[in-house]
Amino acid sequence: MILGFDPASPAGDTTVARIGNRVTLYRGDAYAIRPTLGWFDADVMDPPYEFRAEGGGHYRKARGGMDQIIDEQLHKGFDHAIINPLLCGAVVVFCHNDQLAKLLPYLDGNFERFALCMWRKKNPQPVANKHYRPDSEFYAHCWSKGYHPQGDLADKARTVDAYSVRGKAKFGHATVKPDAVMDKIIRNVAGESICDPFMGTGSTGVAAVKAGKTFVGIEQNPTHFETACRRIAAAMEGTAQ
Ligand SMILES: C[S@@+](CC[C@H](N)C(=O)[O-])C[C@H]1O[C@@H](n2cnc3c(N)ncnc32)[C@H](O)[C@@H]1O
Repeated sequence: MILGFDPASPAGDTTVARIGNRVTLYRGDAYAIRPTLGWFDADVMDPPYEFRAEGGGHYRKARGGMDQIIDEQLHKGFDHAIINPLLCGAVVVFCHNDQLAKLLPYLDGNFERFALCMWRKKNPQPVANKHYRPDSEFYAHCWSKGYHPQGDLADKARTVDAYSVRGKAKFGHATVKPDAVMDKIIRNVAGESICDPFMGTGSTGVAAVKAGKTFVGIEQNPTHFETACRRIAAAMEGTAQ
């Protein structure tokens, strides 16, 4: 892995890691860096969700992951403008139930079509209180002409069942997406080049390199950036963690 500073970085202090000739990872601000990177066949992103992170009653005390989400401000949402149909043929974007009403009209206006898909958790948190159980997470797959969903009939299911990664324990991150979910998404997106501007610990990148795609990721948190470098390098060597 070659690590260096990017002299052309709009953010000034951006670190760049190159892994082989198909992966480039930036440690820095996605809003400054993504517009400078140009066209990708697909942007696949899991941005900060927007939801009420407090609550949970007695069970809340046992949910250390939620404290980390609050500490890292992963419950404050994101600027939709980072999804730019002039810079990608398709986008896959994860979102919380509470932000669907704002996000979907933005997507519908910017792409030819979209599908609302769902990761169904096999091991949801055992809590409901005055709401539904947190047993599913949504993602929208939106595409412009020529970038429609790929795969055989089984791959084109709108739902994917997988166990939730207890990410805090495994990768030190509260919202790691499971390999099975990311592998399916990567099979569904058209084209060869993928960008994840909110890459966290690199789950999109791991799936992308396993599928032989080129990948560019951006992450602002130095610890998560290092984890992503390590995971993606291991995936390239065929020793995915
Ligand atoms: C929901 S997490 C992504 C987790 C990832 N899917 C995984 O499996 O590890 C969102 C990530 O976006 C990062 N982030 C938030 N704002 C950012 C920004 N402006 N630029 C770059 N990264 C950002 C956070 O540090 C966090 O790691």
